[in-house]
Amino acid sequence: MTPVTAAFPATRLRRLRTSDALRRLAGENTLTVDDLIWPVFVMEGTDAEQPIASMPGVSRLTIDRLVDAAREARDLGIPAMCIFPYIEPELKTQDCAEAWGKDNLSNRATRAIKEAVPEIAVMTDVALDPYNINGHDGIVRDGVIVNDETVEALIKMALAQAEAGADILGPSDMMDGRIGAMRRGLEEAGHQNVTIMSYSAKYASAFYGPFRDAVGASGALKGDKKTYQMNPANSDEALRHIHRDLSEGADMVMVKPGMPYLDICQRVKAEFGVPTYAYQVSGEYAMIMGAAQNGWIDGERVMIESLLAFKRAGCDGILTYFAPTVARLLQKA
Ligand code: PBG
Repeated sequence: MTPVTAAFPATRLRRLRTSDALRRLAGENTLTVDDLIWPVFVMEGTDAEQPIASMPGVSRLTIDRLVDAAREARDLGIPAMCIFPYIEPELKTQDCAEAWGKDNLSNRATRAIKEAVPEIAVMTDVALDPYNINGHDGIVRDGVIVNDETVEALIKMALAQAEAGADILGPSDMMDGRIGAMRRGLEEAGHQNVTIMSYSAKYASAFYGPFRDAVGASGALKGDKKTYQMNPANSDEALRHIHRDLSEGADMVMVKPGMPYLDICQRVKAEFGVPTYAYQVSGEYAMIMGAAQNGWIDGERVMIESLLAFKRAGCDGILTYFAPTVARLLQKA
């Protein structure tokens, strides 16, 4: 007769879960403050802020308060912040010229942060939407978003941002040829060490809704962004985008949105092995905060779990509005 124990498995996977110590030893991935990039919204004025209704806990800040936020980020150990400006409607035009104004809001914010808190890496968004009278990321002619003319404008914008002291340029426009053109422009202007984190695989997503409220673009946007942002049905195409952007001189690549696109993150990291980032976008933030505020989920645990999932998928870092909250939670853990 077979001894009764033989009926039981020699491999008991639960053994490694029996205590906190063993679970930590067997842990494969970790989330640390070094993984976080904090996206922030800046507006004109002094000593003021405006809460964004669809993003509970997030406000647009005036530059002085943004600098305070940068100090807070530095003290928490967050390596980078990404600036998004709220541009007054009267500055939005057809040619988007405010985008490359030396002293536009975004460039003043960059200078203020770099002067007061040089340890923080400043990332800026290279796309025309906050400055565009029709809310698009590119210049519109006869209802068409024109590629090459937009790229010319984006180079001017990128150079003005580099001049202001940006450490990381984040082209989020999805035009063709922008990375190569931008890289050449930076080299020629002597900005060899300014890095580019390309929004390489950026999808035409409904998850950006709250962000467009935050930067005041939702009212302006005519139509949708499907002729330049990617179709959510596609995955091979993301790899083509990443390959192209790397060959044109991107230092880091990004997948956006985040949580519903972890399969893309995983394929990108496995295929290219390059610094890969994900953007946990405004709609993802709003869903988690909305449910947490209703008591339907444990918000803090969901934040940490969602960010750890990006690490598991192979991401080197995450842009997340939760950055300061999570940095504090990680200090307590
Ligand atoms: C604009 C830009 C968008 C986001 C970042 N840069 C919006 C868009 O493409 O319409 C979205 C970020 C978020 O939803 O948190 N080029």
